[in-house]
Amino acid sequence: MAIDFQQIPSPCYVLEEAKLRRNLELINSVQQRAGIQIIVALKGFSMFSAFPLVREYLPGATASSLNEIKLINEYMGIPAHTYMPAYQSHEFEEVLSRSSHLTFNSMNQWEKYKERLAAYNASVDSENQVSCGIRVNPQYSEVATDMYNPCVPGSRLGVTRDKLPASLPEGLEGIHFHTLCENDSYTLERTLEALEARFGELLHQAKWVNMGGGHLMTREGYNTDHLVDLLIRFREKYNVEVILEPGSAIGWQTGVLVSSVLDVLDSQGIPVAILDTSFAAHMPDTLEMPYKPRIIGAYHEPVAGKPTYRLGGMTCLAGDFMGDYSFDEPLTEGDLVVFDDMIHYTMVKTTTFNGVNLPSIGIWKEDNTFRLVRSYGYESFKDRLS
Ligand SMILES: Cc1ncc(COP(=O)(O)O)c(C=O)c1O
Repeated sequence: MAIDFQQIPSPCYVLEEAKLRRNLELINSVQQRAGIQIIVALKGFSMFSAFPLVREYLPGATASSLNEIKLINEYMGIPAHTYMPAYQSHEFEEVLSRSSHLTFNSMNQWEKYKERLAAYNASVDSENQVSCGIRVNPQYSEVATDMYNPCVPGSRLGVTRDKLPASLPEGLEGIHFHTLCENDSYTLERTLEALEARFGELLHQAKWVNMGGGHLMTREGYNTDHLVDLLIRFREKYNVEVILEPGSAIGWQTGVLVSSVLDVLDSQGIPVAILDTSFAAHMPDTLEMPYKPRIIGAYHEPVAGKPTYRLGGMTCLAGDFMGDYSFDEPLTEGDLVVFDDMIHYTMVKTTTFNGVNLPSIGIWKEDNTFRLVRSYGYESFKDRLS
């Protein structure tokens, strides 16, 4: 059954449990068939009330900060795979004690921390030791938007081949790269060719290879058979454990942001509906990427003769609007406007800019009941300030 929107407070992110399970089943089948591990990247999907479901299928999670590590430890009960562009000295031992894998972004960082790592590993049982890797930059990416392309000239993310010695330095067991963003397996195939051309002999020495995120295997039309073949060939050729760490693919098309109309006005001839949500504060990727989000039941592009509106966010930022969209009926105060695919990279990026409340978070359960997980108020706004 579809979500009964009458039960949802506005504004609210609503995760559809059945859709998340469907994604996880597909991802699980890929990891089983390919003989690899697929872990969830918290930067894209940190909805911890759904972590028990995620853990039914995925063996782990990846973090890019101590806070994400703690969320993984607390709500999944496992150590994290960790990568940060630079580690902070004061939290390094805590990061180690909460992680199973640690990836360094530069040889400087490796040199700085390798003795502390060795001391830590010598102090714990073998099953609690941390396995370390280095992030490399294969200097090949098909990501069109520079904002999301870690291979732009001068990128700080990952080590180019000339910065690494002929063989993998002692103590480093893994190679990590992340160069994809909402890409398919054919992009991965071309990326692996570039990686192998530059780092081939190091791959033979590695124990594990982490292929980062950006593998949008839950998008309709993605050829998972091709992905599985590619992963098996790679794993066997280099005799390595392979890890993928997608974020988007987990939460892809698993839920919505429900909002409602507060006012309808005419702005110099343009009809505008002001909503109780904000593009800037609650859907920042729509302005940053940018992209025009789909609205359930609305026409994505203006249709002549249909009621057409620009949708305004509730902050005073002039650019906090999106449009235009057409509807079958004129919008009036209280009407619902439901944005599709608003689970990944939304909740993790919200702000309380302008003092606007964060949307509530809820789950439309598989038994067709609604569970309101959390609502926010003044305290959440105040908490970020002093
Ligand atoms: C190092 C790393 N791993 C994984 C991911 C997750 O990528 P995606 O959500 O596109 O799958 C990202 C995203 O930026 C990343 O930087």
